[in-house]
Amino acid sequence: MCGIVGYIGPKSVESVLINGLKKLEYRGYDSAGMAVLDGAELSTRKALGKIAELEKQLKGQPVDGTTGIAHTRWATHGEPSTINAHPHLNNERNIAVVHNGIFENYAKLKAELMDDGYVFVSETDTEVAPHLLEKYIDEGFSLDEAFVRMLKRLEGQYAIACISEKMEKKIYFARKGSPLILARGNNEYLLASDIPAVIPIAHEAIYLEDEQWGYITEQGVSIFNLAGAVVEPQWQSVSLKEEDVDKGDFEYLMLKEIYEQPDVFERIFKERIDDSFIHFPELKFGKEYLARVGRMLIQACGTSLNAGMIGRMYLEQYAHISAETDYSSEWRYRNPLASGDSLVVGISQSGETADTLAGVREAKAKFMRVLSFLNNINSTMARESDAMIHLMAGPEIGVASTKAFTAQVLNLLFFSLYVGSIKWLLPAEERREVLKEILALPEKMRKILKSHEQIKQIAEYLKDKNDTIFLGRTYNYPSALEGALKLKEISYIHASGYAGGEFKHGPLALVSDNVPVVIIAPQGEIRTKMISNLKEAQSRKGTIISIITEGDEEIKKESDYFVEIPPCLESISPLLVAIPLQLLAYYTAIARGCDVDRPRNLAKSVTVE
Ligand code: G6P
Repeated sequence: MCGIVGYIGPKSVESVLINGLKKLEYRGYDSAGMAVLDGAELSTRKALGKIAELEKQLKGQPVDGTTGIAHTRWATHGEPSTINAHPHLNNERNIAVVHNGIFENYAKLKAELMDDGYVFVSETDTEVAPHLLEKYIDEGFSLDEAFVRMLKRLEGQYAIACISEKMEKKIYFARKGSPLILARGNNEYLLASDIPAVIPIAHEAIYLEDEQWGYITEQGVSIFNLAGAVVEPQWQSVSLKEEDVDKGDFEYLMLKEIYEQPDVFERIFKERIDDSFIHFPELKFGKEYLARVGRMLIQACGTSLNAGMIGRMYLEQYAHISAETDYSSEWRYRNPLASGDSLVVGISQSGETADTLAGVREAKAKFMRVLSFLNNINSTMARESDAMIHLMAGPEIGVASTKAFTAQVLNLLFFSLYVGSIKWLLPAEERREVLKEILALPEKMRKILKSHEQIKQIAEYLKDKNDTIFLGRTYNYPSALEGALKLKEISYIHASGYAGGEFKHGPLALVSDNVPVVIIAPQGEIRTKMISNLKEAQSRKGTIISIITEGDEEIKKESDYFVEIPPCLESISPLLVAIPLQLLAYYTAIARGCDVDRPRNLAKSVTVE
């Protein structure tokens, strides 16, 4: 959801900024731009489309200097166009601003500034910022004062960076609601929306908090709060390496992240399992409190909500906790009733999703306790939740979530087993049995990954379709939702997931010889019910693609295409089923010539409502 980066130092500003932007491209790729100060002269470059377009432009018209800011855009206010691309400038064209977020009161500010004679060239909300700054500078305020005055006028959320011919070798920044980090290398300073943009240069970073502002210079960083008090910088070492965020030998980051899943699981096992006991060292809630939780209200968005829906069943099954799930954007606007034993759960890969964060804040405003499952433990949600569980999936950059999803489901499963054990409601024997099955998952996942050629053939069939239906029940109903979400987000084929039992109550009307039906039917209690769905679809000429347990000859015979998963406990089957569904979406998107890591109109981290 827009990425910003800034640099002051001895290296080529142009290449540091371009490299940084490429690492932030997952946040948006509608347009890109940069502004660079060479001495006291400000140069800007902007291009519509992906960062490669900006790079092309810079080849013909390079920029040089020691100080620069850059931006990759996910359009909110104003269509994707060169004029709406950041940086935005004041009328004298000597102040440049990049922004991630939304200035909610921009219309009022714009009208006021236009009355004062300021001329706007773009349709963006961002453009009010450089004009406001110019206004306050013209009124005689110092740069610091003008910057703070501007911040105090801006409502909504932002991470901004600003350079000007009036402030050589200085980048002003501020954060409220959108992520922003500062970083330092060898005599060089950076700022960025996310850590990947500052490696390999940075050794240390600071995660800014809301309502902090300041500037970076060649000498260091200065941070203040809005009242003007100095904030002591809290440097933390950066452990992330370039290979952690690169696609390596894979064609796309998404494919690399799909293949990483068995290793991610083994890493999580090392941290969480000791003999047959489960550990959550980072969890701030004590056992006594957890044993008293009677109800959990799970709120999340997108893939994270699908993981939460599987988690809900684990909480009921293993922890004997009544649980419900909802989209964060719905949850926060209804009136969720919570008693003293209720715990609100946020699930988020990024920890920055605006709707989920708003859900956390809503819960806190109502004096509810919040536990968040997060991959980014330096995120805003990590800071604002009462307790946190680390997903440990490693950095996930591909816009379509894969390894974070399975890590979410696994950690929710561990948590449910842990709470069930604390409450003495889950027999040790059953816990050991489930753990044994979980420990066998990485090898089973590796085996499924080897069926990629078979999945490519299914993708060849699917690539010419306009609609696809995914069906699953109980634990695999959310798998059907997730399979459909993956397919539509990266291949642009319309896809919907349904609970198998609901199929005959409407979706069946959609089935024809041109609408394939993906039947998720691993071994277990619901398998025979899924066969009924298969028959219903088959008799309406639907093409059947089934996901079955190895050796299920009965379903194999009835299917046009099938993918097998190794036998496993029904409750943990979503963790295996996820892999063929991810690969199916991936290879279908590839067969249709789609840019898998940059699906149109989407961004990985949605930091606006
Ligand atoms: C976006 C991403 C999805 C993700 C969702 C929630 O829509 O494209 O992949 O599932 O946001 O993100 P979160 O970071 O909160 O898990």
